[in-house]
Amino acid sequence: MASATMTTSCTSCHVWIREVAGDPARRTKAMEVFPYWERYEKNVASYMTVPSLEAAMARLDPASVEAWLADPHDMRPGLPETMPRFALTAEERSAIGAAFAEAQSPVAETPAPDPANVAKGAELFVSKTCSSCHAYGALHTTGIPLAPDLAHTRSRMEPDRAAAWIEKPSALSSAATMPDLGLSTDEAIAIRDYLWLADPGWTEAAPLQAAVEPTTSPVTWDEVNEAVFAKICAHCHMDPEQNDGRAGPGNAGGFGFAATGIELQTYEGVVAVSDRIPDALHRRRLEVHRDVVGYGEMPATVDRPERPGMPLGLPALSDEDTALVLGWIEQGMPR
Ligand code: HEC
Ligand code: HEC
Ligand code: HEC
Repeated sequence: MASATMTTSCTSCHVWIREVAGDPARRTKAMEVFPYWERYEKNVASYMTVPSLEAAMARLDPASVEAWLADPHDMRPGLPETMPRFALTAEERSAIGAAFAEAQSPVAETPAPDPANVAKGAELFVSKTCSSCHAYGALHTTGIPLAPDLAHTRSRMEPDRAAAWIEKPSALSSAATMPDLGLSTDEAIAIRDYLWLADPGWTEAAPLQAAVEPTTSPVTWDEVNEAVFAKICAHCHMDPEQNDGRAGPGNAGGFGFAATGIELQTYEGVVAVSDRIPDALHRRRLEVHRDVVGYGEMPATVDRPERPGMPLGLPALSDEDTALVLGWIEQGMPR
């Protein structure tokens, strides 16, 4: 079952986009199956950069993956999109965890993380160029889009496996994009201990910003459609009549979600669900708030929405675009 779940819901982003888009031969073959690929690539700016699932399977703690799939939060400050929260059952999540466990090769045992190593690890973190790719909480705040913020690592890897990965990622997975940096075992352990024991500067939960007020200036359909629905929502909530029967995951179901029948490519489609849109946009703001305030646990002050916010997994709409949508709805949705 793990492979069934992962084939249907995970490969769309983690295999198709990531690997197929970059390989001309596979791209040509893929277009035989999915002729819209070219248009998709051209129109969609999101999900073109997604981490390797194979490299993740080789290193992440299966139990932490199971928990994170139920309530994902942002791992990469430089990557605009996040992993959406899917409608996976506990059984499906545990099957995915089992597939991770099966993909992992044994690693050498290491001593428990030792505070005496932290200062040396902090120095090596800079001299060995880790800090040029990775953020580490508030201690290092910039990184390349695909490198995780290492403040999360202690909650998602086993310490032995982390040391092995740092020493030589290619030994754990041939799909690793992190380069081998030629570290000794002792150096890898010292950095691991710095990542496990240094205070990454957890941020306090800031109060959620006040809800956005609808704009009072007149808004036309063309304006709100161009800024939001056509640009951001339509590619998942497609009108099958304009797309040879394809409706997208937000309409026909996909990513583990059942079909909703929600189509946001036409005026009529948007009007039909206009009463659900404000709440869906607000839930995404709650999710983004959770991402910036905490490393791991969502603070108790923030409600955990029952369903994922919209746009699914993409950055929340700007306040300006939110005000535009709310204003247009409040004005009676003029054409
Ligand atoms: C809509 C696109 C999309 C789909 C579909 C998707 N993912 Fe992801 N996934 C992402 C993105 C984007 C990230 C990076 C998240 C981050 O770093 O914050 C990610 C990250 C991950 C990670 C962490 C990997 C790492 O290197 O940090 C795991 C594990 C993962 N996904 C598993 C899955 C599984 C299992 C499925 C199927 C149930 C799945 N994903 C389906 C977009 C997707
Ligand atoms: C050229 C960029 C680059 C450099 C330099 C680099 N990394 Fe990475 N690292 C990555 C990427 C990208 C990943 C995500 C996994 C993958 O696709 O290989 C990663 C993953 C990791 C992970 C797994 C973290 C997690 O939570 O999933 C650890 C730990 C890590 N790196 C530590 C280090 C350390 C320590 C150094 C310095 C010795 C370092 N990295 C140098 C790019 C880099
Ligand atoms: C990456 C794909 C994707 C994008 C982009 C997207 N959606 Fe969705 N949408 C979905 C999926 C999948 C569901 C089903 C989720 C569920 O069942 O909870 C959904 C459900 C919804 C729902 C019904 C949820 C509810 O609880 O009422 C609304 C309303 C909605 N989307 C609006 C939007 C709007 C507005 C946008 C653009 C701002 C948008 N969506 C962008 C995939 C997407």
